[in-house]
Amino acid sequence: MEDGSGGRCVAPGGGLVSGKRLRGSRLSQFKCAAENTLTFTIDHLGIAVKSLSAAKSIYETLGLTASDEEVVEGEQVRVAMLPVGESRLELLEATSESSAVAKFIAKRGEGLHHVCLRVPDLNAIVERLKQDGVRLVSNEIKVGAGGHRYVFVHPSSAGGVLLELVEGGH
Ligand code: CO
Repeated sequence: MEDGSGGRCVAPGGGLVSGKRLRGSRLSQFKCAAENTLTFTIDHLGIAVKSLSAAKSIYETLGLTASDEEVVEGEQVRVAMLPVGESRLELLEATSESSAVAKFIAKRGEGLHHVCLRVPDLNAIVERLKQDGVRLVSNEIKVGAGGHRYVFVHPSSAGGVLLELVEGGH
């Protein structure tokens, strides 16, 4: 949104928040934060399953169509994606007993495994998380299926949720 000041981030409402008028740097911070949230989306929800074909059937009965299955060697999983609006469900079946998904199912049974947010600038965000002492599952950004760059935030730093972050623009 333009405010005539050179195209910086601008929020609607002229900076009025809860009846208080923000000024100066606080105002531009708020404006940019409000605009940045538009570039974050829920990319997918990851669901750990024992059998892709068994797990897919409920969604196909609903009328959704699963993508072709793909093996992600690095994570020892076979994946099927189900597009849901702008987001997706990611069904994950372990390809080995040492896979994190196999361990998850052994411990907790099938179910919601992770939440994945698409973020605008993964390098900058990972840097910020590290500076803030947030625990990442792996300190390096990995490259997954389709060349997507991603990291996982450990559940101990994210309210018990395994949080995947992928870079936007795909
Ligand atoms: Co995922």
